[in-house]
Amino acid sequence: MKHVSIALLALTAVAFAFAPPKVGKPSFTKDVKPTLDKFCICCHSGAKPADGIDFSKIKTDADAKKSFKVLRKSLSEVQEGAMPPRGMTKPSAAQVKAFAAWVKAGQ
Ligand code: HEC
Repeated sequence: MKHVSIALLALTAVAFAFAPPKVGKPSFTKDVKPTLDKFCICCHSGAKPADGIDFSKIKTDADAKKSFKVLRKSLSEVQEGAMPPRGMTKPSAAQVKAFAAWVKAGQ
């Protein structure tokens, strides 16, 4: 029995040693863009993007910073269930959470 607890202690120590580093700042390109590309870009891009909002033009973290207002608005549309429009596939709770974390981080 003693051996088992020592083994468990050792395992716990190893698990702590290899614990993943603290999650960094949310990133537009990693945490938000894939969601927009999947659920929004079909209407919000091209020659006549819906409501003049073209997500295909927001490609980098720097672009996102410039378009922060429209992205913040987009998050509330998603949270309110207004976007994507009725009948379209909606982002998952995890995707919305990641989007919200990015907006909250303020860039
Ligand atoms: C099926 C096409 C379609 C999809 C998919 C779609 N939109 Fe829209 N979106 C529209 C249309 C049309 C409007 C303008 C009319 C309106 O507000 O309903 C609009 C308007 C908006 C607006 C402006 C709303 C306002 O009141 O100012 C935002 C922000 C927006 N969409 C974000 C998104 C986001 C984010 C997604 C993906 C999660 C998305 N849309 C997916 C068609 C779409």
